[in-house]
Amino acid sequence: MKPYVEMTKEELQELRKELSAQYKEFQGRDLKLDMSRGKPSAEQLDISMGMMDVLSSNDDLTCDDGTDCRNYGVLDGIKEAKELLADMMEVAPDHIIIYGNSSLNVMYDTVSRSMTHGVMGSTPWCKLDKVKFLCPVPGYDRHFSITEYFGIEMINVPMTPTGPDMDLVEQLVAADDSIKGIWCVPKYSNPQGISYSDETVRRFARLKPVASDFRIYWDNAYTIHHLYDNEQDHLIEILAECKRAGNPDMVYKFASTSKVSFPGSGIAAIAASENNLTDIMKQLKIQTIGHDKVNQLRHVRFFGDIHGMVEHMRKHADIMRPKFEAVIETLEKELGGLEVGEWTCPKGGYFISFDSLDGCAKTIVAKCKKAGLVMTGAGATYPYGKDPHDSNIRIAPSYPTLPDLKQAMELFALCVKIVSIDHILSEMA
Ligand SMILES: Cc1ncc(COP(=O)(O)O)c(C=O)c1O
Repeated sequence: MKPYVEMTKEELQELRKELSAQYKEFQGRDLKLDMSRGKPSAEQLDISMGMMDVLSSNDDLTCDDGTDCRNYGVLDGIKEAKELLADMMEVAPDHIIIYGNSSLNVMYDTVSRSMTHGVMGSTPWCKLDKVKFLCPVPGYDRHFSITEYFGIEMINVPMTPTGPDMDLVEQLVAADDSIKGIWCVPKYSNPQGISYSDETVRRFARLKPVASDFRIYWDNAYTIHHLYDNEQDHLIEILAECKRAGNPDMVYKFASTSKVSFPGSGIAAIAASENNLTDIMKQLKIQTIGHDKVNQLRHVRFFGDIHGMVEHMRKHADIMRPKFEAVIETLEKELGGLEVGEWTCPKGGYFISFDSLDGCAKTIVAKCKKAGLVMTGAGATYPYGKDPHDSNIRIAPSYPTLPDLKQAMELFALCVKIVSIDHILSEMA
C-alpha cells in the first residue's frame, strides 16, 4: 500500500467505502474491549497469589531486629523491606523511607508538603505568587492531575527519544525561580516506553536551577519491568549522580511494587538524600504512627531478595511480551508505510505510544469507542488534558487477553485508517 497522502481523491474514497464496511462488521460483533489503563491482567495477578500463603496465624511475625510487625512502631519501614526496596531502587537502604501501598500517594504527599511547609526550610509554595512544574510530554496523566489539583502551572517540555528536551529544561530552570519541579518517568516512560540516555541523566544531575527548592520528581515506576532478558534498558542512578555533581538534595526518587505484586496492595517508597529524608520525616511522624508492616513482611517473605523479585518479573514479562509484540505487529502490518501514524517499540514498562496525523486523535478514540473499544482519552497524556497537536494516543496492552488484544488492535488500526482518510480528504476539499 502506498502512503495515503499520495493517493488520489477517488482512490481514497473507494478505500473509505471498503473500510466503512469492515467497521460496520466490527460494530456488529458487540465488542467490549478495554485498552485504557495500565492494569496487570488477572493472569499476572495470579503469579503473586503465593503472597497470600506466606503469612498465616501460625507464623512468627517478628522482624530480624525483634520488631513485632503486628504492633505499632517503625516509621520508615522494617529493615528487611528497606533492603529489598533499596535493591529494587538501586540505592542504599538508609536512603529510603517505605510508605503505604501507592507511590502516587507519596508523590501527592511530597507536593502537598511543599505547598504547606516548603522544602527544607524554604518558603511554602502556597505563599508564593506562582509555582510552576515542567512536564515532559506526552506523560503520565496522574502526575499532571496532582500539580493541577494544587494550582501549579504546568509547562510542556517535549520528549525526545533520549528523554526530555534537556536544552529547554536547563534553560527554563536556570531562568525562572518559580519552577519548583519536573515530573520524570525515566525508564520505560509512560506512555512512550522511552528510557533516558546517560547524557540526559547526567544533565539532570547537573541542572542549575535558580530555585533552591527545585526538585526532580524521578518516578521510576518501571525500574525492573523489562520485557526481554537480553535487551534491557539501564539508567545511571540519579541519587548518586546528583551527589557526584554537587546537587545531592535535588532529587526525590519514587517507586512501588504495584506492578510487581498487587496494584493497590504493594509497598511504595521514596529515596532521597539525608537532608531531604530528615525534612520528610518531620511530616511523616505527624501523619502516621507507621505504615503497614505486615504487608512489608509479606513482600519480604514472598520475594526473599532482589533475585527473587527479578525472577518474578520474568514471569510478568512472559505474559506481557506477546502482548506488546502483538500490538507492534498489528500496527506494522496494518499501518506500516501508510504514513498516518508513528508508534514506539518499548523494551519494557506498560505502554506503547501512538501519534496519529495532527488533529485526528480525539476522533480515532471516539470511533473506537463507538465500536466497543475503550482507549485512554485523547489528550490525557498532556497537562490539562490538552494535546496541542491532538495526535497522541496511549495504548495499554496489559489488561485484555491476547485474543481480545489482537481484535482490539485490528479495530484500532481500522479506525486510524478511516479517520486519517477523512482528514486527508477534508484537506483536499
Ligand atoms: C509512571 C507511573 N507512576 C506511578 C504509577 C502508580 O503507581 P502506584 O500504584 O505505586 O501509586 C503508575 C501507574 O500506572 C505509573 O504509570
